[in-house]
Amino acid sequence: MSEMDRRAILAAPVFGKVFTDHMITLRWDAEQGWHDGRLEAFQDIALPPSASVFHYGQEIFEGMKAYRQPGGSIALFRPERNAARFNASARRLAMPELPVETFVRAVELLVQQERHWVPGGDGTSLYLRPFMIATEPTLGFTLPSRSYLFGVIACPASAYFSTRTGPPALTVWLSEEYARAAPGGTGAAKAGGNYAAAFLAQREAVEQGCDQVVWLDAVEHTWVEEMGGMNLCFVQQSTDGGSPTLMTPELTGTLLPGVTRDSLLQLAGRLGLGRSEGRINVQQWRKQCEAGVITEVFACGTAAVIAPVGHVRGANDEWTIGDGRPGPVTLRLRDELLGIQYGRIPDDLGWTRIV
Ligand code: COI
Repeated sequence: MSEMDRRAILAAPVFGKVFTDHMITLRWDAEQGWHDGRLEAFQDIALPPSASVFHYGQEIFEGMKAYRQPGGSIALFRPERNAARFNASARRLAMPELPVETFVRAVELLVQQERHWVPGGDGTSLYLRPFMIATEPTLGFTLPSRSYLFGVIACPASAYFSTRTGPPALTVWLSEEYARAAPGGTGAAKAGGNYAAAFLAQREAVEQGCDQVVWLDAVEHTWVEEMGGMNLCFVQQSTDGGSPTLMTPELTGTLLPGVTRDSLLQLAGRLGLGRSEGRINVQQWRKQCEAGVITEVFACGTAAVIAPVGHVRGANDEWTIGDGRPGPVTLRLRDELLGIQYGRIPDDLGWTRIV
């Protein structure tokens, strides 16, 4: 790619479309453990059609970002959290764990190599996608694969919002027919299969004029869980005139423990907001909006950052949250989080790691 093309991409990066020049690969087998680590040219991966990943979907991944700092340096955000979650996903999918230092080192090496691919524009970043696939050429289903490939690829990405107040808030679709994850399943793991199973409902959401699916619990089909690629947060006003509370569905094992979700819960405390990890069902969501108790709702995740939700739609129901636009608590939390990630606010929590 020419320097001019690269600069044009960095000026207006589109999430997940153009990848940088290099990638990291590392292999695992039962005899050697992790071995053959490489920083190599971004290229196709050759695998036999019998490789286990093609048949049984043994795959996990992570989503992280590298942020350009005011002086030109580059920072990762809480990479150890992603490494820990990657290993939690690996355990659930019967895959080998990767030492946290190896995971973080792999990501750092790629970012160092691709420094010139980290955009500098407001809200832009280098999105990093670590992943692991099962490579044993077998259709056997008695035991998990005995060989794996770990990789990290990267792509310049722009913010979900292009301005501080952003585009109109999201309209979300209540998926009443499908379920994302059931108790005992893989909902808490960042496994490719969870995302594959979400596309049908996501397509339904788009057909209904919505941006994203809201997944409800698989048992009663009424408790709000998450949005597939993002967690959900509710701003609830206090009835006695105190500070609002940031409420997010508790981690029951069927939803993903988001790094952004965890960071926002911590930041909410510092900003003097109440914090709660609880349960909310669809009726309560609607009633609390009508009563002015829930005044703001937003989705949060690495790729999405903080995406305000303005409208909720279901097969037989539709309502607006607040005035349907991004609210002040949402924007305040977003400013705080991005301020730390982009090095505009001192990071006294030790969350950023200069690469
Ligand atoms: C991320 O936020 O990094 C994710 O992995 C979500 C994905 C659906 C884009």
